[in-house]
Amino acid sequence: MSKVEVKKANSFSLNISNIAPDKSISHRSVMFSMLANGESQITNFLRAEDTLNSLEIVKNLGAKVIDDGTTIKISSDGIKEPFEILDCGNSGTGMRLFCGLLSSANGHFILTGDKYLRKRPMKRVTTPLRSIGAIIDARDDSNLAPLSIRGASLKAFNYESKIASAQVKSCMILAALRADGVCSYTEPELSRDHTERMLKGMGADVVVDGLKTTIKPMKNLLKPLVIRVPADPSSAFFFAVAAAITPDSTVVLQGITLNPTRIEAFKALQRMGADITYDLTDDKYEPIGNITVKQAPLHAITIEENISWLIDELPALSIAMACATGTSVVKNAEELRVKESDRISTVVDGLNACGIKTTEYNDGYTVTGGILNSATIDSDGDHRIAMSFIIAGLRCGMQVTDLDCINTSFPNFFELLEKITEISHSKLDLE
Ligand code: S3P
Repeated sequence: MSKVEVKKANSFSLNISNIAPDKSISHRSVMFSMLANGESQITNFLRAEDTLNSLEIVKNLGAKVIDDGTTIKISSDGIKEPFEILDCGNSGTGMRLFCGLLSSANGHFILTGDKYLRKRPMKRVTTPLRSIGAIIDARDDSNLAPLSIRGASLKAFNYESKIASAQVKSCMILAALRADGVCSYTEPELSRDHTERMLKGMGADVVVDGLKTTIKPMKNLLKPLVIRVPADPSSAFFFAVAAAITPDSTVVLQGITLNPTRIEAFKALQRMGADITYDLTDDKYEPIGNITVKQAPLHAITIEENISWLIDELPALSIAMACATGTSVVKNAEELRVKESDRISTVVDGLNACGIKTTEYNDGYTVTGGILNSATIDSDGDHRIAMSFIIAGLRCGMQVTDLDCINTSFPNFFELLEKITEISHSKLDLE
């Protein structure tokens, strides 16, 4: 197992043009290419484990993929029954969206994942899919991967979801495109909307009215996708927190999607006192631009709304909370418990190990700002926990173990971090 030690940072001023490309959009770009009537072209695709697994799955489903290292060209003449088991690795997005795509395809498909993904709940997609005729089976009463899907005819639906989840929404929108009538999907709070934007851009009949999305089944294949994937705000956010907690520091984060369902954590950090500005530079499928973050004194905040807009950034935001004056509160965030780790426990345990006072609730936690102490933190195989505590180390030094997970979303994280502080890597002999 790998381990890293980071040293306390001095003030820095950094302009970053190569934050990792967006994971959500990268997954979708290769999957949606399977629905197009010609060659899709994707540039700045995230070459990280999660999204490369999706690309591999698309190949196993018969797509023709030409990759010159810059542009990935994908064409498909329909989903083919694969010879291989489809391995989503660590990715819940991959598994849940492929369920929607494959439920109506001809053939039999097995989806599996790593030891972490095989423990994450899939009933949230298998239940609504089964209710419209999908033939899916899995361990634990159709909840835990591996999942077996036999493509079937799907009935039209009006589904009201109890959770604000873009993964569930996207899964059902993909199923709706092949259902036998007009479908609608309603969510309790708007979740990220890349699927709706991208499919509309490809010509699908997807109409969003507040929390309700109405989808007409595809009569024909869609137009190919031609997309440059913007940088990932969730990855960029680690460097936003780095600047916000390091005295006299500034970072410019270039080419980030400014989609409002994705930058809520930056807004929260701004409400805490950080000096943040946004500069729109492009608008195709998504608004895209630069975000500048300057350090300023931080104060406590309560986060209880639009949780799905900052769910992935809460671990890193909690590090900013630990450096703020006062007690911050996170509520209505039970979804954190079913991410790559139980992020309520991993955040609270990690902060406690660093000497920060916290309280844990079923649906959230409190963090009382104070002096962060150096500690050794195990990521529990969760990339966002690993990177959050490495960033905390910029205040006080830190050792973090179980780092391979960082490759699932942000392969050049350390290369960028090296511009801020000293890092030493080592191997741990555990077994
Ligand atoms: C994602 C949606 C979110 C997010 C995940 C990526 C997506 O999950 O946490 O990292 O790409 O649709 P939920 O929609 O399940 O909350």
